[in-house]
Parts: sequence; structure tokens; C-alpha cells
Amino acid sequence: MFTREEASRFVPQGDGDPQADVVLAWELLYRLEPELYDQLARAERLHPGVLGWLPQTADRIAEVGAGAGRLTLELIDRGREVVAIEPAMPLRQILTRKLAEADHGSRARVTHGFFDDLPLPDDFADLVVACSAFTRASGHGGEAGLSEMERVCRPGGCVAIIWPNNIDWLAAHNYLYVCFDGPMSVEFSSHKEAVELAEIFYPNAIEEVRRRGRRQVPFEVLGINPPRDLAFKMLAR
Ligand SMILES: C[S@@+](CC[C@H](N)C(=O)[O-])C[C@H]1O[C@@H](n2cnc3c(N)ncnc32)[C@H](O)[C@@H]1O
Repeated sequence: MFTREEASRFVPQGDGDPQADVVLAWELLYRLEPELYDQLARAERLHPGVLGWLPQTADRIAEVGAGAGRLTLELIDRGREVVAIEPAMPLRQILTRKLAEADHGSRARVTHGFFDDLPLPDDFADLVVACSAFTRASGHGGEAGLSEMERVCRPGGCVAIIWPNNIDWLAAHNYLYVCFDGPMSVEFSSHKEAVELAEIFYPNAIEEVRRRGRRQVPFEVLGINPPRDLAFKMLAR
């Protein structure tokens, strides 16, 4: 399932068990059922405050771990050049298709790469961003990944980690934190889809999702933090 480069990051001991390792299970999902992952990500929309906080215009933008493009599609109108870096080939294919449909094929491009080995020169972008992708674990970013994101960011530019799961660790690396408030729901396309996806991804909430009978499900019902926050660092000029 994994290329050699992927396996060295995601199953470094060579014998991962997705039943016991949820991070590995997600990596398998991206490759085995990428459309299912995309369906979930489309429902879990980012807080408008996060999208409003990001620069409206930039010369170059690099997004790492772009997936099927939940954030990328919000960025394509903001940069003269947008590079979306994504290791999982099936997600790259979905994102490439979406960018073609959005008619931004020449301004935005999708390429292969990892946090700790970005295929970009030093000082490349004004904004280097990751959404729901970076963690402090070495296979998903870590020290080497943060250094790489900062390497490809221009002096005076911004590195932003959206929906971070390691705020204290990022604070210790001089990242500031912003959080936007207000109620947030997962916006499934129908109640039927809410039930189907909850059965797979939120089994503990399934009875409540059925009972409510609505396509919108508050994040707290599902037991997850909403995508309402980010950590960022402005690089010195
Ligand atoms: C939860 S998905 C988020 C995708 C997308 N950013 C979004 O918000 O929908 C995590 C993404 O990080 C990518 N990823 C995992 N490990 C990575 C690594 N070492 N370097 C770059 N991307 C990675 C995965 O392939 C996946 O696309």
C-alpha cells in the first residue's frame, strides 16, 4: 500500500497495525478510500474566521498535506502561484481533478512531497500552511517538518498550522495561537449521509445523530474539536 518513502514515515518499524494505530488507519483510508475521506472533509468545514485570518493576497503560497483540497480551493484565488504538496497519490488525483474543474490549473499545481522533505527552494512562499495535517510526530511533521516549512517561507512570511493538535509544542517553538468562537456543526449533505459517515467515523455518536434527524451535527455531539483555530509564526525580515 505504501511507497518506500511513505512506509519509512508511517510504519518505521515495518509492522504497523491499523486496528491499534489510528494515525496509520487514516493513512490507509487516504489510499484505499480517498473519496470517502473527501466526503468527510467536505462536511467538516473550516471556521470562516480561520479563512478570513489567512492572507487574502500573496505572491506564492505553499500548502503541505493538502489532501483533497479542503483548504487549497480556498487559497487558489489568493496567490499568484499556489503549490499543493501531498504524499498520497489518490488524494493528489482528486485534488488535481478539482483544480481542473475550478479552472485554476495553471495558477495552482499539485505535487508530491513530505513535511520533512519539501520539493521547494529556500524562501519560496509568503505563506506556508498546513491544515489538519501537521503533528509533532516525525512521520507527520515533527522538528524536521517545522524546519522545512520555515526554510521554504520567505523572510517576513508566515507559517501557519491550521487545526493544530499540539498547541503547547508549537508555542514552545514560538508559534502564536488564534482561536475563533461560535457554534460549529459538521455540515453533511443530508441526514442519510450524516448517519452513514457517523457509523464509520463517529460510532459513539451514532444514536444521537439518528435521533436528531438533521444533516448538521454539532462538533461536540461527535466528540471532536472543531476546526476553529491555528498556530502561526511570522518569520523575521
Ligand atoms: C487529515 S488529512 C488533511 C488534508 C487536507 N489538508 C484537509 O484539510 O482536508 C491529512 C493529510 O496530511 C497528509 N500527510 C500525512 N503525512 C504527511 C507528511 N509526512 N507530509 C506531508 N503530508 C502528509 C495526508 O496524506 C493527508 O492528505
